[in-house]
Amino acid sequence: MRELKILAVVAALTLITYWGVEPFAHSQMHPHVEAPDYNFKDVDGLNGLQGNAETGATIVQTNCTACHSIQSQGFPSIMDNASTAAAYGTVPPDLGTAGKLYNADYLAAFIKDPAKASLVTHKFQEGRAHPMPGYSWMQPQEIADIVAYLQSIAPKEMTNKEIFIDACQRCHGIKYGDMKNGTMNAFTPIENIKSYMGKVPPDLSQYIKSRGEEYIHGFVNDPQRYLEGTAMPRVGLTEEAETQVIAYLSEVGDSKKAQREALGPKFLIYLVIFAIFAWLWKSKQWRDMH
Ligand code: HEC
Ligand code: HEC
Repeated sequence: MRELKILAVVAALTLITYWGVEPFAHSQMHPHVEAPDYNFKDVDGLNGLQGNAETGATIVQTNCTACHSIQSQGFPSIMDNASTAAAYGTVPPDLGTAGKLYNADYLAAFIKDPAKASLVTHKFQEGRAHPMPGYSWMQPQEIADIVAYLQSIAPKEMTNKEIFIDACQRCHGIKYGDMKNGTMNAFTPIENIKSYMGKVPPDLSQYIKSRGEEYIHGFVNDPQRYLEGTAMPRVGLTEEAETQVIAYLSEVGDSKKAQREALGPKFLIYLVIFAIFAWLWKSKQWRDMH
C-alpha cells in the first residue's frame, strides 16, 4: 500500500512538471494566433459570379501575356528572366498553374488590385506603383471570366516541388533542394529583388526547422499578422497548395522527419517491455529476501 502511495505522489509530481514544461510554457511563449483563413473573406473577390472560360481566354491573351508566360498554352516568355526581373523587380510567374494555386476569390481580388489583395499597400505609396497594373476598370464579369479560364487550363495534380516553383521561387531560393545543379536558386537576381522588395527574401532551405510548420502556414496566408510591416506579400494559396508547399520545405529541410516520428512508438514499446522485466526482477528479489 505504501508503495502505491509513493508511486501516486511521484506520478502526480511528474505530470505537474510535464504540464509546466510543455503545454503551459508553450502557451505562454507562443501566444495563440488565429488560424489561417483559406476563404480570404477580407478581399473583394468574385462575389459569387460564374465566369466563362472561353471569353476569359481572349481577355488573358490581350492583357496578361505581355508579362506572363503560359507555356502549356503556347505563350512563351517574351523576354528572358534577367530582362523581366530588371523591368519588374521580379520574374512574373507563368500563369498555367495559377488556377490551381490560388483561391478563386483571392485571384480575382489580386487581378483587380494586386497591392491591396496581397496586403502590401504600405510599400506602394507616393507615386510608387505595383509592377502589375490593377484591372479594377474591367467589368466584374470579365474578371470572373479570367479566373474561369485560368482554372480551366490548370493541371488537376501538381507535385509539392512544382507548387514551390510557381508560388515561391520567383523570390525565394531553396538551395538544399538541388545543391549540385543550382536549379532551386531564386529566379530573380538578388540586386533586382532587393531593390523591388527592399529586402532579400531568405533562402528557405532551413526555415521549416527554425520557424515550424504552423508559423509558415500562417505567415504565407497573412504575413502582416506575424511580422507587421514585412516586405513579403501575402500569397493567396488554397489550403491544399499551401500544405504541399510546406511538405516540400519539410522534404528539403527536414528529410529525417518521418524516420524520427516512426521511432517514437518503437521507443515506447521498448520502455513497456523493459518495465515488465524490471517489475519481474524486482518481484523475484523481494521473494528471495522474505
Ligand atoms: C506589366 C506586367 C504585368 C501584366 C500586364 C500582368 N501582370 Fe501579373 N504579375 C506581374 C508581376 C511583376 C508579378 C509578380 C509581382 C510580385 O510577386 O510582387 C505578377 C504576379 C501575378 C500573379 C501572382 C499572384 C500572387 O499572389 O503571387 C498572378 C496570379 C497574376 N500576376 C495574374 C495576372 C493576370 C491574370 C494578368 C492579366 C489580367 C496579369 N497578371 C497581367 C506583372 C504583370
Ligand atoms: C514577391 C516575393 C515573394 C514571394 C512570391 C514569396 N515571398 Fe516569402 N518573403 C519575401 C520577402 C521579401 C521576405 C522577407 C520579409 C522580411 O524580412 O520582412 C520573405 C520572407 C519569408 C519567410 C521568412 C519569415 C520570417 O519569419 O522571417 C518565409 C518562411 C517565407 N517568406 C515563405 C514563403 C513561401 C513558402 C512562399 C511561397 C508560397 C513565399 N514566401 C513567397 C518575398 C516573397
